[in-house]
Amino acid sequence: MDQLILRPSGPLSGEVPISGAKNSVLKLLAATALADGTYAIHNVPRIADVEWMSELLISMGADVAWSGEQSLTVTWDRDCIPEAPYEVVERMRASIVVLGPLLTRFGRAKVALPGGDDFGPRPIDMHLRALEKMGASFETVHGYVEARCERLRGSRITLEFPSVGATENVLMAAVLAEGTTVIENAAREPEIADLASFLNRMGAKVLGAGSPTIEIQGVDALSPVDHRVIPDRIEAATYLAAVGAAGGEVVLVGARADHMEMLIHKLGQMGMRISPDSAGLWAMASGRLKAVDVATLPYPGLATDYKPFLVTLLALGEGTGIVTENLFTGRFRYIDELIRMGADIRIEGHHAVVRGKEMLSGAPVKAHDIRAGAALAVAALRAEGETVISDSSHIDRGYERFFEKMRGIGVKVDRK
Ligand code: UD1
Repeated sequence: MDQLILRPSGPLSGEVPISGAKNSVLKLLAATALADGTYAIHNVPRIADVEWMSELLISMGADVAWSGEQSLTVTWDRDCIPEAPYEVVERMRASIVVLGPLLTRFGRAKVALPGGDDFGPRPIDMHLRALEKMGASFETVHGYVEARCERLRGSRITLEFPSVGATENVLMAAVLAEGTTVIENAAREPEIADLASFLNRMGAKVLGAGSPTIEIQGVDALSPVDHRVIPDRIEAATYLAAVGAAGGEVVLVGARADHMEMLIHKLGQMGMRISPDSAGLWAMASGRLKAVDVATLPYPGLATDYKPFLVTLLALGEGTGIVTENLFTGRFRYIDELIRMGADIRIEGHHAVVRGKEMLSGAPVKAHDIRAGAALAVAALRAEGETVISDSSHIDRGYERFFEKMRGIGVKVDRK
């Protein structure tokens, strides 16, 4: 089943449960390599990326099993093979975050270099420079980074850019390093704070996660813990966008407003009403949204992952909005698909000029990546006729029960 078939829908209504954050759980799974024993991680989404990360841990020597609908048990009690093969890294770039934990714990790691993807190149130079400063040495052999170190040394690391992955790799390396590490210009995403709270419960000493300066005092050993993953703000944004496009009133159960303030503000400017309630987040929209300008920035700015949804809403809004991408220059490919659905969008370098239309027109389109696929599904809610999204398995990489959840709030969707 690799096609989603959607028809114009709305007004939407009801409740949609928000799953655990993909971008958090993948890093928590990597962090389990820091200590032997058994971990229980709760609120884990059943998505392909989680299965792949689990396979990677299994290939390194862990036991990983579901122990309930949303809980994963991870046990490390054998020798670890500190290697991430190309087949895994190529499929899922996030697997690069095993580098920090493996290196600091075992003094060596071999991780395939990620290649480019639809978002353009994704270098890891900042990760490597920071770990080098902490005492690691690297060699690139046959497409792999081979890393070695004695015990890493705490250092002052100033990141050129608040990279999420580099912050996470350094953070996980620093918890077992000798002495104190300070990360300046650290990424501040809620997923980083979640990782830090996981590490602190394991016995690490991390202060300041969620702010631009993180201080980590290295410890000699850590121990496994139980942890509940924070809700997925990007998934929540997707259903907010569905309400924005189709209209209606929906409660996002479990979503956290404090993790998505800038987006809520932006959608408010566009005319949506969104407010926290006891279950999560209540959202309402009626009529066409108004155009605004949008620029992606590191957290607490508007996440680049929200952009496909904002572009889609602007394509259906009243007026013209300019969208500026500041993180991944190539992240505009889904726009060709939106244009096939009749959207009026012009790309100028890393800007997109989006002129809103009352309705789009259903068409066969392709999901190039997780968010692009989901954004096309949102566009289909206000596209005359039928929209058929092929390669919809991309959506399943990042969304738990997307089809069921969309149906649950009244979206007319089938799969084939
Ligand atoms: C993570 C998220 C992704 C999100 C992104 C930015 C996961 C699994 N993925 O990706 O969904 O879109 O944060 O919020 O959590 N860069 C370098 N050198 C480096 C590292 C990064 O030049 O060593 C550049 C990148 O090319 C990009 C920018 O820094 O332009 C941001 O990348 P980064 O924050 O590292 O993103 P990821 O951690 O890969």
